[in-house]
Amino acid sequence: MSTDEVVLDWRGPASDAEIVDLTEAHGGDPDPGWWDRIREHSLGWVTARSDSGLLVGFVNVAWDGGGHAFLIDTKTRPSHQRRGIGTAVVRRAVEEARAAGCEWMFVDFEPHLEAFYLESCGFRPTAAGLVHLTDA
Ligand SMILES: CC(C)(COP(=O)(O)OP(=O)(O)OC[C@H]1O[C@@H](n2cnc3c(N)ncnc32)[C@H](O)[C@@H]1OP(=O)(O)O)[C@@H](O)C(=O)NCCC(=O)NCCS
Repeated sequence: MSTDEVVLDWRGPASDAEIVDLTEAHGGDPDPGWWDRIREHSLGWVTARSDSGLLVGFVNVAWDGGGHAFLIDTKTRPSHQRRGIGTAVVRRAVEEARAAGCEWMFVDFEPHLEAFYLESCGFRPTAAGLVHLTDA
């Protein structure tokens, strides 16, 4: 489906309250104040807004200050999912990280999102490691 009805923006305005609302919309556990605290540390973020200005898609790009970018917090409002918005938002983030001089972009995800990240968004699988730090 077309994403013509949404406007994408890189580092465009996105308030903490809007991120809380979008997180709640998809059943996530929002942390009010989180976005205001970390925004300045991001390489950037992509917003997708509907005609009415409603925030319908978002992704944040963290980085190491050099060549490595990390995609995190991809979200599409449930009312707007499966229209290609998530893919468009992620692909824009990839383009912007490349334009900013990054060489690599990483993402991790649950197995059910393999088709989204690998087939739609163009990531390739790689070896990775993980420690759950709060395990006893
Ligand atoms: C994951 C998410 C961002 C996808 O957004 P979206 O705008 O619906 O994605 P797209 O429309 O671009 O999807 C493109 C393709 O990816 C795959 N896909 C998307 N969402 C999927 C899901 N929930 N389960 C399995 N495959 C999915 C499908 O192949 C889809 O193509 P199709 O609609 O023709 O079948 C959205 O479901 C979401 O916000 N989920 C809740 C938050 C979350 O889990 N974020 C990911 C953190 S790693």
